[in-house]
Amino acid sequence: GQARKLQAILQSAIDAIITIDAAGIITTVNPAAARLFGYPEAAFLGRNVNFLMPEPYHSAHDDYIANYRRTGERKIIGIGREVTGRRSDGSTFPMHLAVSEFEVDGRQHFTGIIHDMSAQKATEQALRQAQ
Ligand code: HEM
Repeated sequence: GQARKLQAILQSAIDAIITIDAAGIITTVNPAAARLFGYPEAAFLGRNVNFLMPEPYHSAHDDYIANYRRTGERKIIGIGREVTGRRSDGSTFPMHLAVSEFEVDGRQHFTGIIHDMSAQKATEQALRQAQ
C-alpha cells in the first residue's frame, strides 16, 4: 500500500529527513539522519531539533520558527540554505538544509531535508590548494 511505500522512501533516502511540529519537536526521523548525526533514531523523537546544531543557531532556532509563524516571512522555506550541523561527538559539518511546510489535522508541521556537504567542501578545498 501507499503507507508502506512512503515508509520505504524514508528508510532508503540518502539524505537525512526530519519532521518537526510547530514547537520544533521532532516527530519523524529516517536512518540517514541517524547515520549523519550519530544518534540512534529513537534519540531524536520528542527532542527539540535545535540539539542538532551549534550556537548561535541552537539558542535562536525556537525564535526562527516563532518569527516565521508570526510573520509568514520565509527565510529558508522554499529557498534552502547552507548551515552548520552538530554531530553527537560535538563535531560540526556543512549541510544544505531545505525546509517545507505541511498540515495534518489542522496542525502545522515542517520537513527538513539535509544534505551533507562535507565531502564536496573537502574536494573544493583540495582543488583550490592544488592550483
Ligand atoms: C529557520 C538553522 C534544522 C525548520 C532556520 C534559520 C536558520 C536555521 C539559520 C533561518 C533564520 C533566519 O534567517 O531568520 C538551522 C540549522 C539546522 C536546522 C543550523 C541544523 C540541523 C532544521 C530542521 C527543520 C528546521 C531539520 C525542520 C525539520 C526550520 C523552520 C524555520 C527555520 C520551520 C523557519 C522558517 C524559515 O525561516 O523559512 N533554521 N535549522 N530547521 N528552520 Fe532551521
